[in-house]
Amino acid sequence: MGPVFITGGAGFVGSHASKAFARAGREVVVYDNLSRGWADFVKWGPLVEGDILDTAQLTHALKQYRPETVVHFAAVAYIAESIAQPDTYYKINVEGTLSLLRAMQAAGVKRIVFSSSCATYGVSPDVITEETPQAPINPYGRSKLMAEQVIRDVGRVAGIDSVILRYFNAAGSDPDLQIGERHDPEPHVIPLAIRGAIDGGFVFTINGDDFPTPDGTCVRDYVHVCDLAEAHLKAVDHLEAGRGSDVFNLSTGKGSSVLDLLSTIEAVTGKTIERKAGARRPGDPPILVASHAKATRVLGWRATQSDLATVIRDAWAWQKHDGLRAAGNDLDKK
Ligand SMILES: NC(=O)c1ccc[n+]([C@@H]2O[C@H](COP(=O)([O-])OP(=O)(O)OC[C@H]3O[C@@H](n4cnc5c(N)ncnc54)[C@H](O)[C@@H]3O)[C@@H](O)[C@H]2O)c1
Repeated sequence: MGPVFITGGAGFVGSHASKAFARAGREVVVYDNLSRGWADFVKWGPLVEGDILDTAQLTHALKQYRPETVVHFAAVAYIAESIAQPDTYYKINVEGTLSLLRAMQAAGVKRIVFSSSCATYGVSPDVITEETPQAPINPYGRSKLMAEQVIRDVGRVAGIDSVILRYFNAAGSDPDLQIGERHDPEPHVIPLAIRGAIDGGFVFTINGDDFPTPDGTCVRDYVHVCDLAEAHLKAVDHLEAGRGSDVFNLSTGKGSSVLDLLSTIEAVTGKTIERKAGARRPGDPPILVASHAKATRVLGWRATQSDLATVIRDAWAWQKHDGLRAAGNDLDKK
């Protein structure tokens, strides 16, 4: 059986998926330009250093390694940055996906798993299902929705089957501390709040405490990155067994507010987090919580490590291990 070809495998979710595939006995090949990833996160197979926009290099790599399936993580993925730099977001996330599909056609690769996002749904007060209309409210979400559509449309004529996985908020880190969440600067809420617990001089900003939510702060559905990684194994099995194209939410069905995060971090670490209220950021929906019923029914997946205390414990252990890199305080959630 050919390897799994992982674009963006030097990043947060892609490196955890690489480890999960390797543990399941699959060969992995990572394709990444290291713009936001880390060479030391590529531990389970070769790294081809290249840009997703470079169709010729991608084609060459696909012909060389002859993968069974491509798993496509490579993207730029910060909401605030997407509002400031929409061109970059459409280029890497939409044109990059087209480039990959062209290379797959040239190399005869027929299956793709795609990392999509809860950001494609926009504002949805109810629990989200795969049938909830997608109406993204920022360029990042729109670029991921366009990439989904491109994959389906091109896939239909090119005979490429796809599984689209819409993750809710990825969090936590590898409990073995081999890899973890490392963004520089770090825009994500959990590493930033943990920094607030570790670094006495750091004041954590709550970006909006007047949302229409029970405690006024944003509510998100946090999924442990190791649970997300396991879902990719099941998605690849689904495609390789010939079960055809489909789309799944990867979520827990349970929402946690920013204040829930802060109190859990304080309980896990025994530290106090200095905080202040800041303004809402543009592009932030108040609540994003989804049902995982379809992923459970069709793929046999459900989150098993995603209770908030476990997520926080693993993120905290990693951050102590890897050093404090959280330079920003710009709460960004995908
Ligand atoms: N982290 C989340 O909460 C979350 C939620 C929903 C969806 N997603 C999606 O999951 C995927 C992975 O997210 P992540 O949090 O691991 O991000 P990340 O930034 O840690 O990883 C992305 C990887 O893609 C690589 N990359 C970026 N541009 C590239 C290019 N032009 N060519 C080649 N490689 C390139 C980066 O170097 C990095 O290694 C993304 O597609 C993102 O949209 C993430």
